[in-house]
Amino acid sequence: MMEAAVTQHEPDQARGGRKGGPCRVVLAGFGTVGRSVARVLDGLRDDARLVAVLDRRAAIKRAGWLHDPDVVWTDSIDEALAGGADVFIELIGGIDPAESWIREALSRRVSVVTANKQVIAHAGPSLLSMATSNGCQLRFEASVAGGVPVLRAIESGLAGDRLVRVAGILNGTCNYILTRMEREGVDFASALKEAQALGFAEADPTMDIGGGDARAKLAILAMIALGVQAPVGGIHTESIASVTPLDFQYARRLGCTIRQVAWASRGPADANPGGAEGLEAGVGPALVPLDAPLARVSGSENLVTVRGQFGGETSFGGRGAGGDPTAVAVVSDVLGIARGARPPLRPTLTIVDEVSDDLAAPFYVRFTVRDRPGIIAALATVFADYAINIDAILQEPGFPADARPFVISLDAAPAGTVHAALEKVAGFDFHVAPPVAMPILGTMA
Ligand SMILES: NC(=O)c1ccc[n+]([C@@H]2O[C@H](COP(=O)([O-])OP(=O)(O)OC[C@H]3O[C@@H](n4cnc5c(N)ncnc54)[C@H](OP(=O)(O)O)[C@@H]3O)[C@@H](O)[C@H]2O)c1
Repeated sequence: MMEAAVTQHEPDQARGGRKGGPCRVVLAGFGTVGRSVARVLDGLRDDARLVAVLDRRAAIKRAGWLHDPDVVWTDSIDEALAGGADVFIELIGGIDPAESWIREALSRRVSVVTANKQVIAHAGPSLLSMATSNGCQLRFEASVAGGVPVLRAIESGLAGDRLVRVAGILNGTCNYILTRMEREGVDFASALKEAQALGFAEADPTMDIGGGDARAKLAILAMIALGVQAPVGGIHTESIASVTPLDFQYARRLGCTIRQVAWASRGPADANPGGAEGLEAGVGPALVPLDAPLARVSGSENLVTVRGQFGGETSFGGRGAGGDPTAVAVVSDVLGIARGARPPLRPTLTIVDEVSDDLAAPFYVRFTVRDRPGIIAALATVFADYAINIDAILQEPGFPADARPFVISLDAAPAGTVHAALEKVAGFDFHVAPPVAMPILGTMA
């Protein structure tokens, strides 16, 4: 564990080194978001002017609707930056070549705006340092929650608080699927197909469903809200693929619904050598109380809730994806630079090597068994061995004895202890399918 200062800015860095006149903007990536950004910039021109578009298929993407005929269309980063630029917008996605292009722009003292969560989650602090030492800016509002200006709100509106926890619905695809299952009772596979048909889910939805997309956004939130830099791969993720419509019925009996929740809290100081705080974080399906803000987020919306030591809980919600909402966040970052706004002041980051997900919470566990007498007694004995108390046993009638589902809710216990007990339970021969366990989060969720 160590500390890294990433943002000490000199006054002349506030404008990203820009001298006057409209801010000259180079746009890399003419896809869903890039096209929307070009449209918004096309209507501005006083503050910011699009001077070049960089795309691997620039030759066939040239847009006739741009008012300025002098915009350069190219597939070469050198040519794109050759005419002079104040801001480079990176919207190609992925790590390579996005990160090297960002470094190339910063090395030429050109400020960068990006929506790229993967690059910022993996290399954000080093890129911020590079921007600082080169007298320019790096902004990435659109990398978390698309069109919801949550990073700016945390950095400026909540700068006076000490934030201790952040939780959010950060993946619109998962939220769309789960709310379809909740409201229409459709199964996971059908809900996923619908999401793909509507353009909410990628052809390969692994990063969304498995939690990788939300994990990168959570890593950025942990930096900005909690001042902790953690290895992205160290944040534990659980897929939502094992959730069924039946889980929503049981969850409702417990006063809850189910959402993919990304959460991070400052961890106990004694977990780290040197006594600095650590990070507890995870991404996965969880039961959230029906009256919690996260339960009311539907479809492809995003919501982020932060808890401050002094200010309590604050939530930010809205459209987490889509070309136009995301373009608003991107162009707002550009205008901040164009209008001379200072870069946000961020706390010195605490760097942690490991992330704990040993959240102490009540748990929901669904079993599907070949029924016979003695099953509950066998399970209760294992839970008792791990000092885990059973809160309730729920069983919907009408299922066949050779595949009978039921749910046990457990009193609060550390996640590690619950999973150890479930590993022991997995040895019983009555399971028809592996047990499905989810934490039951409090109302802040
Ligand atoms: N879409 C959203 O709702 C949303 C929301 C928040 C953040 N973001 C982030 O915004 C970024 C862009 O997303 P998007 O949805 O606009 O992606 P997209 O539609 O796939 O657009 C990416 C564009 O970049 C081009 N490109 C890709 N790799 C390239 C390379 N190596 N060299 C040159 N051009 C390249 C693509 O060309 P081809 O046409 O040849 O593929 C395409 O035109 C990503 O980082 C994404 O995570 C997106």
